[in-house]
Order: sequence, then C-alpha cells, then structure tokens
Amino acid sequence: METFIRNIPKAELHLHIEGTLEPELMFAIGERNGVELRFGSVEDVRRAYEFTNLQDFLDIYYEGAKVLQEEQDFYDLTWAYLTKVHEQNVRHVEIFFDPQTHTDRGIPFETVVSGIHRALGDAETALEMSTGLIMCFLRHLSAEAAMETLEMALPFKEWIIAVGLDSSEIGHPPEKFVEVFDRAREEGFLTVAHAGEEGPPEFIWQALDFLKAGRIDHGVRCVEDDRLVERLRDEKIALTVCPLSNVKLCVFDAMEQHNLKQLLDLGLRATVNSDDPSYFGGYMNANFLAAQRALGLEKEDIYRLVRNSFEAAFVGEERKEALIQELDEYMEGAA
Ligand code: ADE
Ligand code: ZN
Repeated sequence: METFIRNIPKAELHLHIEGTLEPELMFAIGERNGVELRFGSVEDVRRAYEFTNLQDFLDIYYEGAKVLQEEQDFYDLTWAYLTKVHEQNVRHVEIFFDPQTHTDRGIPFETVVSGIHRALGDAETALEMSTGLIMCFLRHLSAEAAMETLEMALPFKEWIIAVGLDSSEIGHPPEKFVEVFDRAREEGFLTVAHAGEEGPPEFIWQALDFLKAGRIDHGVRCVEDDRLVERLRDEKIALTVCPLSNVKLCVFDAMEQHNLKQLLDLGLRATVNSDDPSYFGGYMNANFLAAQRALGLEKEDIYRLVRNSFEAAFVGEERKEALIQELDEYMEGAA
C-alpha cells in the first residue's frame, strides 16, 4: 500500500506556497535579506508549530513570510516545493499565493508573481508537470483591499487561473467579497474559496451562491447539512481536503476521527492535499499515508481521491484526459 501511494500519479489543488517555507529556507533567505526573525534557530521555529486553531497557525505563517522580498526568493520557494512533489509523482499542481501578505509590506505585486510564475514555467518544461496559479484574498482584510489587489493583478491575468479566499474564517463570511468575486469572474478568473474548515456549513452555501466557487477548499463541515451534501454531490463540486492540516489545527481531534472516508462514501468529490506542508508535518504522500492508515482506506479509495483531483483540476480537457489515462494505466500495472 505504501509503495502504491508513493508511486500513484497525483494532483495537488490546495497548496499555499507561503506554507511550504521550510525553517531552513526561512533562515537562509532571511539571512541574505538581512531580516531578523523572532526565532533563534531552526529548532525554535519547529517548536513553535503547536497550534490549537487556525489563528495560532496564521500568526506564525505571516511572520515567516516576512523573509520573502526578492523575485528570486519567490522563485526559490516555489522551486523547492515543485522539486519535492515531483519526487512524489505529483503530475499537476495548482498553487495559491497571498499577494497581500507581501504587498502590505511594500513588496511589489510583480516581484511576487514573477518569481512564482518563472518557477512554474520551469516545472512545466524540466519536470513535465502542468501547473496553475490561484491568487487568494485575505478575508480578515477589507473587501476594498481585495478589490485593489484584484486590480493590481490585472496586468498579469494570463498567469493566474483563478481567485480564492483564505485566512481567518470565523467572523469573515464569503458574502463580504461578492463584488470582488463578481469583478474577478468578469475578468475571466475562475473562483474557489476556503469554507467549512472552521466555519459553519452556511459559509459553504455562501461560497457557492455568492462567489460561484467551482471548488470548496476544505469543506469538511458540509456533513452537518444534508441539503448541502446533496447540492455538492449534484453539482460535482470538489472539496480540497487537507487531512494533516485538519488534525494539526484541531478541526478533528485525531486522524481516526477525520471524515474523509465518509465524504467519499457520500459520493462527494473529495480530494487529498497538503495545505501548508512545512507547518503541518507533510507533503502529498504523507497526507495520503496518514489518512490511509488511520481510516483503513483501500486502493480503490485512493484511486477515487486521485481521480477526483484530476477531474476537478482547472486544466484543458486534453491534459485532463492524459492525466486520467496515466492513472488508469498505473492501476492496470498495479493490479
Ligand atoms: N492560509 C494558509 N493556510 C490556510 C488555511 N488552512 N485556512 C485558511 N487560510 C490559510
Ligand atoms: Zn488552505
């Protein structure tokens, strides 16, 4: 089973690039930019990763991101992630970035997006991966600030496939961002949103009805509302579930309590993703392995999770079919 999981071709659809910043790279980049961290050592950083909720984590995540200043920093960060998941047979990635975390510190939007985009381009040619970039608005900031960020992104819109919504969920319902998402769709962006991670099922309804989200990031609390489950199933809305993240942020007390298997059995388009792997204890394979062991997932479940991610990917039909064919050939070989 472990070999089967390691080698199966897969896609990652829920990954914050700032959440891949490993402490070693945080220190290396911090040093070359002359940025003082409040942590004394790599070990100090890792020791701080004891979270009891989303906000605990976000406070440290935004702190770490302060070392990122130059285009090359964003390139190095993205490239480190891409080479790592390439070794895990991740064939397609869609990466979130949080421009406001950087522009609010005076880093130009162009610096951020150029570094990430250049690494994604190199992955397409050198690693034969397909890639997409999704710009997230920080929901704890105002709708006006989100609109300004959208305007900054317009000159780069060929590089960005979708917009999303992340950061502190409680107190920041999706409806706050209706106008921004309307404008984003008019400009040709697809839409996704974090909802139902810590927040109630009502926020998932809002993400669908007000933001026209094509996928829901996390969405695990949908099971509290039968009508919502029906809607997600009927409309084949994917849920980008992040097992290790959910346990680390205490959305579930333990992996054994995670509802990933329940979501699959309800016929929902659940997928497995790593969210912020540097902070939550593992990349794609670690997420699959932890969920498989705790929930007793069968090969058929793993296949379904991967297939769901290919079906829900924001790529052209031709690439989608090629990915699914690669998966089916892998399954035939593994049988
Ligand atoms: N930003 C980075 N990771 C996040 C998560 N899991 N939820 C909300 N915002 C985030
Ligand atoms: Zn997330």
